[in-house]
Parts: sequence; structure tokens; C-alpha cells
Amino acid sequence: MSELRPTETGLKSGLDRDRNRGDDAIPRHVAVIMDGNGRWAERQGLARTEGHRAGLEAVRKIVRAADDLGIGFLTLFAFSSENWNRPKQEVDLLMRLPEEFFELDLPEVIERGCRIRTIGRMERLPPNVRRTLENAKQRTESGTGMQLVFALSYGGRAEIVDAARRLLREHEQGQLDPDGLDEKMFAAHLDLPELPDVDLLIRTGREWRISNFLLWQLAYAEIHVTDCMFPDFGREELEAAIADFHARERRFGQTGAQVREGS
Ligand code: FPP
Repeated sequence: MSELRPTETGLKSGLDRDRNRGDDAIPRHVAVIMDGNGRWAERQGLARTEGHRAGLEAVRKIVRAADDLGIGFLTLFAFSSENWNRPKQEVDLLMRLPEEFFELDLPEVIERGCRIRTIGRMERLPPNVRRTLENAKQRTESGTGMQLVFALSYGGRAEIVDAARRLLREHEQGQLDPDGLDEKMFAAHLDLPELPDVDLLIRTGREWRISNFLLWQLAYAEIHVTDCMFPDFGREELEAAIADFHARERRFGQTGAQVREGS
């Protein structure tokens, strides 16, 4: 299925490590801002929508590569809350992509043991898109491999507001003591409570922005920005991003000396 096995690259294969533990070489949670589809298309004299179609092919490549490498969670920013403001023709095309992906790829996703998850305001998506996603989620529910998270109609601030709303409802029902509220409890009310902090954020398309993505979960993420436009992003570029991650010293507020001493 894949041309280059991860062991040939010096990285451990997904098969011989516990993908939910995380280790020095493989980040547990990788999140991707898939930017540059439009510019990729324009450079080739194609319509922007062709760029998104090419982006879908890159999604296929990155999902296979991430699974082969043993990544635990791969979160893809597929459609932001702000993307609803794009021209109707572009929004319509973007809304067709989940169906196109799962029609062809669901069997492989199941075979790999991946589990499909979503974050974002699903209620805004057209009913057929919701059905496609629900079906994919149900059919992969027992998957114990990589969790593949699609952020659709998603905004980080909206997710935090929704969490606050859920907490307020619990408070109204007398189930929440405000003094007992801490970060762990707050995180448990986000769209996908099991989603761990992001270890590595990749942004393609050269822009240095977070764009309202995973604001809560990105608190300690290492950020890798690449000039590569998303349709050109594949296994090699993912491995380069992981190598970059590996070269970083993650301090989580400690000094470099403390981290090196392991205190
Ligand atoms: C941003 O590029 C990209 C998007 C808004 C859409 C990304 C979606 C995919 C790559 C496919 C999603 C697949 C599934 C299965 C849901 P842009 O158009 O802003 O690029 P530009 O900055 O060059 O204009």
C-alpha cells in the first residue's frame, strides 16, 4: 500500500509501538492546517476547486503515511467556520469532498483500524454530509488504531464557547460547583474530550497563522510551517515535519537544564 516503510526512514512503524503512548520520535497528536490549495491551482491556471480536489489526494497520502508512522491522532482542518463565507460554488465543492473521500477510502480506513471522529458545528453541514460522516463514525467505532479527526465547520473560539455553554447547563442543573472547575474539567466539555493536546501543528502554504484552529489544544504545540502547498504535501513532507519536531526541546514552562536533567 505504501512505497516507503517507516522503518526505512529511521522512524518506528505504527505496528511496533504503542501509538497512544507517544515517544520521542513520533508525536502522539498531529494537527494540520491544509492551506494553499487555491494558490496551487492558480499557479497552474486551474480553477481553485481543482486545488481542493488535488488537496483530497494529499489527504489520502497523509492519512496513510500518518497511520504507517504510528501517529495516534491526526486532526485535519477541512472546513473552518469562516469558510462558509467563500463563493457558493467553492463551498458546494468543499461539501462534496467528505463523500468523495469515504466512498473510495472507507474500506481502507476500516482495514487499517482507524477511527473516524469529527469536531465542529455539525448541525450547519448539509444533511447528506452529516449522514456520510455519521456512517463513517459508526462503521469505525471499534477501530483501535489511529484516530482520524475531521474539523468541519470548525472554529476554536466557537468550540470553547460551546464548552462553556455545556458547563453552564450543568451548573443550572446543580451538577457543577464553580470552585471545582479546573482545566481538566473544562477540556472534558470540548467537542471531543478524548482529543489530547496537539504535539505538532503543521501548516502548509507558507502562512504563519493559527487561524482559529484548536485554540485550547494547541497550548504547547510545536509549530512547523512549510512553503509546500497542501496538494504537494505527502509522506516525505510529513517525515520532514516530524524530524523537525524531534529536533525541538519541549520545555512546558521549565528551563532547558531542568528538561535535560529530567526533573
Ligand atoms: C485552504 O486552502 C483549504 C481549504 C479551505 C480546504 C481544505 C480541504 C481539503 C484539503 C480536503 C478535505 C477533505 C475531506 C475528506 C473533508 P485555500 O483555498 O485557502 O488555499 P489558498 O490560501 O492558496 O487560497
